Amino acid sequence: MSLGIVITTEDSPSTSEFSFVVREKGIKKGQYVQVPHGSGHLFGFVSEVFKSNRYFERAESVADFERSSGIAAQFPSDSWEYIIGVVKILGVFNGTKIERAFLPPSPGALVDIADNTLLKSFLGFQDNGIHIGSIEHHDVAVHLSLTRLLQKHLAILAMSGAGKSHLSSVLLEEILGRKPEDGRIAVVLIDIHGEYLGFKHDPVFGNKTTVIDGASIKMPLKKLSPETISEWLPHLSAPQRDVLRHGLTTLKDQNKEGYNLKDLVAAIDSADISKDEVKRALKRSLSELKRYHFLTRTSENPRLLSDVKPGEILILDFSSLDSLRKKQILVSLVARRLFNLRKRDKIPPFLLLIEEAHNFAREKAEESEAISRSIIETIAREGRKFGASLCLISQRPVNLSTTALSQCNTHIILRVTNPNDLDHIQMSSEGIDSRVAKSISGLKVGEAIIVGEAVNYPTFVRVRDRKSTKREKGAPLHQQAIDFEAKQKKKEKGAEAFL
Ligand SMILES: Nc1ncnc2c1ncn2[C@@H]1O[C@H](COP(=O)(O)OP(=O)(O)OP(=O)(O)O)[C@@H](O)[C@H]1O
Ligand SMILES: [Mg+2]
Repeated sequence: MSLGIVITTEDSPSTSEFSFVVREKGIKKGQYVQVPHGSGHLFGFVSEVFKSNRYFERAESVADFERSSGIAAQFPSDSWEYIIGVVKILGVFNGTKIERAFLPPSPGALVDIADNTLLKSFLGFQDNGIHIGSIEHHDVAVHLSLTRLLQKHLAILAMSGAGKSHLSSVLLEEILGRKPEDGRIAVVLIDIHGEYLGFKHDPVFGNKTTVIDGASIKMPLKKLSPETISEWLPHLSAPQRDVLRHGLTTLKDQNKEGYNLKDLVAAIDSADISKDEVKRALKRSLSELKRYHFLTRTSENPRLLSDVKPGEILILDFSSLDSLRKKQILVSLVARRLFNLRKRDKIPPFLLLIEEAHNFAREKAEESEAISRSIIETIAREGRKFGASLCLISQRPVNLSTTALSQCNTHIILRVTNPNDLDHIQMSSEGIDSRVAKSISGLKVGEAIIVGEAVNYPTFVRVRDRKSTKREKGAPLHQQAIDFEAKQKKKEKGAEAFL
């Protein structure tokens, strides 16, 4: 039995919309439907559902009847209720190709619920793809092609607590679970709050996870170009940059095994340049880098060359770092090195996943706060040619670099209620029309809209449960409070016993 029959209304059926009267109850807004059309099917989704009943059309007669025993007692009004579904037409699908609808469906044509198999290919799902959840009202799992989802970068945008980290954990599980023959990429994750450490303790994913504490990241100065260091110290004047380059070149020419900032300062001091003022200012700037303790003579951690492996994840846990500048410098360091190694094919294709991306690629930032922006924008622009993908996660899309965001060809958007953020998302995501934009604020935790490269049409999904262990740094608030009081009491008892 079909779902219903196409009817004529004032301005439909057209090539963009039609209405149908519902035969079978159980139709829902958002459901996909199909109508036979030429050699294929016309696909659309139910954009609105109306109920109607002739007995209740005229206010004065309804009021009149209600003053006596009521309409329902006198007439079979129940059996005159009918439901109308309004369908937004998406396209005509013949099983392989999607075309625009050049003709509307005929009035009287039968409307069916979309066939699951056809729907999967119509929306662009791929059987061995990344399984992130299911679409509502249909028994269809959302499997997205790895290439379509990630090659041209992904942005996950939502307000705080809407499920961004949950979704990225699901994404990680899928990437770690891939078979070599399907193509396995490596993942490097900038974990700002230590939210992903559960992967290390998980029986399935533990042996594919390496965690490096942000405070223990080390990089030999020898491996860095003068340009990179200048980028970290954006206030250097042109003469200061020259002296810096001179110092580093001198050290490099000496062919030592390695050198650190102390050696660099010594090289600057002994440089045959009579610009003491310039040297002093440069050394002052370098002392800031010295405070961050990550530039070394020879030791390196992580060794990206060997620690970035297909089907494995390298978590850089930044939860112990306080300084945003240090975090930005480390992100710039890691991203730059990853991209360079990937360009020379020294490491596998990778996904660099950055939580709180608005702090690392800020739209309107002073130079000194935009240290990692340029490399993120570079990867966003050029990465796809080299198999270097980005996943930018942010709860403040307004503050995220428009260049980077617009290069993310797939956006997964979870609940957002802030009007500024909503406007910004609508502007920067192609494929979000006002209808989709409106529904974003109505999403519940764990519900998402996928738009862009990964799917043929904007698709609503319910993100699946995670399989991996969830383990966050920091106990729940009430537990922290209990622990604090217990510790205080113990201290007091100790003091009493001593007296
Ligand atoms: N699809 C889902 N199914 C079940 N629970 C979910 C789902 N998505 C999120 N949650 C739960 O909702 C809570 C918030 O999710 P999550 O930490 O992922 O939000 P977030 O967007 O990353 O927040 P923040 O901006 O604070 O980092 C968590 O407890 C998480 O387990
Ligand atoms: Mg989060």
